[in-house]
Amino acid sequence: MAFKFATRMKNIKASTIREVLKLTERPEVISFGGGMPAEEFFPIDEMKEVTLKVLEEDGQKALQYGPTDGYRPLREKVVERLGRIGIKGITADNVLFTSGSQQGLDFSAKVFIDPGDVVICERPSYLGAINAFKAYECKFVDIPMDDEGMLMDQLEDALKTHPNVKFIYVIPDFQNPTGKSWSTERRKQLVELANKYNTVIVEDNPYYELRYSGEPKPAVKSFDTEDRVVFLGTFSKTFAPGLRIGWVCAGSEILNKYNLIKQGADLQVNSLTQRQINKYMELYDLDSRIKDLIEVYRRRREVMVQQMKKCFPEEVKINIADGGLFLWVEFPEHINTTELMPKVLEKNVAYIPGAPFYPNGGGENTARFSFSAMPEEKIIEGITRMGEALKELL
Ligand SMILES: Cc1ncc(COP(=O)(O)O)c(C=O)c1O
Repeated sequence: MAFKFATRMKNIKASTIREVLKLTERPEVISFGGGMPAEEFFPIDEMKEVTLKVLEEDGQKALQYGPTDGYRPLREKVVERLGRIGIKGITADNVLFTSGSQQGLDFSAKVFIDPGDVVICERPSYLGAINAFKAYECKFVDIPMDDEGMLMDQLEDALKTHPNVKFIYVIPDFQNPTGKSWSTERRKQLVELANKYNTVIVEDNPYYELRYSGEPKPAVKSFDTEDRVVFLGTFSKTFAPGLRIGWVCAGSEILNKYNLIKQGADLQVNSLTQRQINKYMELYDLDSRIKDLIEVYRRRREVMVQQMKKCFPEEVKINIADGGLFLWVEFPEHINTTELMPKVLEKNVAYIPGAPFYPNGGGENTARFSFSAMPEEKIIEGITRMGEALKELL
């Protein structure tokens, strides 16, 4: 049948990550694909306990509709945590819960983008955001990065040449996919440029609490003097992604728009889940859980780096992130990682080719490897097999 779909559907393709994840459901596959937290550390017993407590103490409210912006005690806890990265002068009224930060990305596009508008992003950038924004028929201007963040002269050029830039999308800590982090100086400059050219910044920051080396940096939003930075956060990487609780933190003028969109999309996030996380944070120490995760991930990162150094040809460049879940690997120019993928899958190993992270093309020789979800012996085995595939190819 030739159904009359909306024009915007032309822009929407299956996510490479989701496609690879489908292939990796076979238990024999060692997958470095999705940015999956280590599920053996999910707090299952604690969740049983807190669920029972929530239902006993507050069961009726936990199963009832609730306010669109979310359960206030949990919003207050988010405010306290944001204060640690320099986001001050906010209250629970500046926080709205969303179904993961992914919904915050979709809403950002819905709130700001008309067809033909421009989104400025890092080159490369998070595939899930690119796909979410594309649905609203925007164009991307992608700005290259060095080890301190976006190149500011190129960003300013883009802001000068494109009057219809609606927002600048950045992932300042342990970026997905490159693992790069912005320097404090660049974060300040970014806000100054946004002020000068009157645009909004969408700061997507799911990984900042997972730091394995280097010094913590203040959030881009901490330099925001004009309420033009929208901060997206999530419990996915520090707690459990299946719960689907993320948040938008912004000034009231912008946040009210997100609230209206949330009402139209799904009214609110799950009442029970918000209380489960809140109760967990009352009874247990989320920071100590994060500390334990950091130890596990730091070791897994190290094992992956060492094994790559051992098994990959010398010309391969491994970018070692100070935190987050990924290593970003640049192969010699003539290697196309999308074409390499079936060969590697034959060896029951999976990674994510880098090209889909480039909204305007490029990056064919790059790939993203997640080290979080596999135990150390599987990382060693998988990278060894990947090295064999590379040797056969070269
Ligand atoms: C940069 C970035 N933003 C947003 C998300 C979405 O996270 P969630 O919707 O689980 O909060 C992810 C998930 O991997 C991500 O890497």
